[in-house]
Amino acid sequence: MAHSDMTLEARLEQLQQQKWFEPTPQFRERSLVADDAMHREADSDFVAFWERQARELDWQREWTQALDWSNPPFARWFDGGQLNVSHNCLDRHVEAGRGDRVAFHWRGEEGEERDVTYAELLRDVQKLANALRELGVKSGDVVGVYLPMIPEVVVAMLACARIGAPHNVVFGGFSPESVRERMEFSDARVLITADGARRKGRVAAVKSAVDDVMGDLRSLERVIVVRNTGTDAPMTDGRDFFYDELLASAADACPAEPFDAEHPLFILYTSGSTAKPKGILHTSGGYLTQAAFTHKYVFDLKADEDVYWCSADVGWITGHTYIVYGPLANGATSVMYEGAPDYPDKDIWWELVERYKVSLFYTAPTAIRACMKWGVEYPQRRDLSSLRLLGTVGEPINPKAWLWYREVIGSGRCPIVDTWWQTETGAIMISPLPGLTKAKPGSATHPLPGVKAAVLDGNGEEAGAEQGYLALKQPWPAMLRTLYKEPERFIETYWSKYGRDTYFVGDAARCDEDGYFWVIGRVDDVINVSGHRLSTAEVESAIVSHERVAEAAVIGQADEDTGQGITAFVTLQGAQDGTDELVGDIREHVAKRIGKLARPKRVIWADDLPKTRSGKIMRRLLRDIAEGRELGDVTTLRDPDVMAQLSASIARHEDDEG
Ligand code: PRX
Repeated sequence: MAHSDMTLEARLEQLQQQKWFEPTPQFRERSLVADDAMHREADSDFVAFWERQARELDWQREWTQALDWSNPPFARWFDGGQLNVSHNCLDRHVEAGRGDRVAFHWRGEEGEERDVTYAELLRDVQKLANALRELGVKSGDVVGVYLPMIPEVVVAMLACARIGAPHNVVFGGFSPESVRERMEFSDARVLITADGARRKGRVAAVKSAVDDVMGDLRSLERVIVVRNTGTDAPMTDGRDFFYDELLASAADACPAEPFDAEHPLFILYTSGSTAKPKGILHTSGGYLTQAAFTHKYVFDLKADEDVYWCSADVGWITGHTYIVYGPLANGATSVMYEGAPDYPDKDIWWELVERYKVSLFYTAPTAIRACMKWGVEYPQRRDLSSLRLLGTVGEPINPKAWLWYREVIGSGRCPIVDTWWQTETGAIMISPLPGLTKAKPGSATHPLPGVKAAVLDGNGEEAGAEQGYLALKQPWPAMLRTLYKEPERFIETYWSKYGRDTYFVGDAARCDEDGYFWVIGRVDDVINVSGHRLSTAEVESAIVSHERVAEAAVIGQADEDTGQGITAFVTLQGAQDGTDELVGDIREHVAKRIGKLARPKRVIWADDLPKTRSGKIMRRLLRDIAEGRELGDVTTLRDPDVMAQLSASIARHEDDEG
């Protein structure tokens, strides 16, 4: 271990004893929120509070009712009001004379740079909006987006918003088969994709891979292809169009038409407890209000001075709210990076912080843990003195990683905002306000103003200091409105455990003696790998579709790098033996069906799986055995011997690994 690492270790040890971490006086003095006036205002009337935040946007017509909660759980916010989301993200900044401001410092994987201003974004968004209309897209039609991290993805989303066509973005790391499924479920009429995508110096063909699975999907009428890598893209006459050619021939002006506050803005699919992903539906006025509010106050944004960078992919909710809608509604300047954190080298993120003088940086705990592993030499190569605030999202952060982030990246000077929220909540719900809150490493601290959260026991009573279920006790503007085409599932999933006015989050949590929230993890069959949500059922169904597999059970196993890792217990058809080759084959199969992120880290061969007499797989036992815990009650098993066989199989697996 290098000497500098030694002293850092000692420092981190010492900091582990410290209970509170306060913002520095320098930070606090200039912060947007330095007292609890906002909390008091929101506590006295949360609807009026959100109305005041909504007034920060440009409305083409004022709402007549701020919140309609007469038919829970179907909320309506700012009913009667009309606005155009893309106008709020672009036109109003350009009209105010800020057209030359950089919206994105884009950096490509090979070091290319492109600064995209607000005026340029507005120009392209109008053209693409016109082109979409020319292709027959009307308000309400769903447009799929499957693009890498290039500025065109933002243009695509805002062009959809401009004409009221809800977008359905699919993360670039998902497989074309996942894209197909999501296009099919949402009846998308158009898909915007690219010829190819780059990852760590390699180019993957995208359009041809999409064609392989999309051919017979009748509802998909048009495909727009961004020329990104120059990869050969098969084009079907009359169906497929190149993005640049459409823009070149499209009319320049596309006036921003007003849409109802409750007009759908986007659908984003996320994993639930069954194999079928859930189409989370977000609408316009409330979503944008809370996206802009949280982006401003949680990150203490001064749009004239700060350079902000959220390292997420635009295909996740974090990218939607904190790369696109929040920052653009606030007129911020952001960094957008196409590549991986370790390519061309492990200091690339810090190079970008230095290069663009990033002041606000938002990433995931998994990424921080990876950086810790790589060592301090990489961040130490660069000047990180521009940073003034750090954020995390997506999974619980272990105190050690929190302290490392604070010391090594933030030089002990930057407050950390650990932000808790979900695809469903649309925007940050529980988080420090950086100039006000005394942080505790590992806790997302308190609900933001306008948010009411509680930890409840199984009966809906406050759990006190005990662990319980996180719940949200009042509606919020950016809440999901329903599950696309599945309103019953919406009610069943979120609003049946505690009734129609209390949102069941699906996370275990604890509220400590100081009123701090500690989110522990999921209570359903959702696995969180590197902050990415996957359902056990989804992975199981991919594994079982492999021709040699008979049965599979998947669990999330604690993993020190990725938070959780996927462990699959697999039984094979007939009397075959599992081989390493077959493990590789199954992993590839899952990558093809869902995406690389869903590949199981461990595959354990099983002769049989632990089941109850009624045939239900007992995952609890699988988790216990995989993590080496004492097994709980096994008497309800149909065949108690199964567990002994599994133990032997795990021991063999560990021998092979070790
Ligand atoms: O379990 C919680 C965890 O991530 C889940 C939401 O995942 P997703 O919809 O993909 O959105 C991730 C980005 C917002 C939550 O139910 N989670 C998210 N943020 C935190 C967290 N767990 C602990 N601490 C957080 N800050």
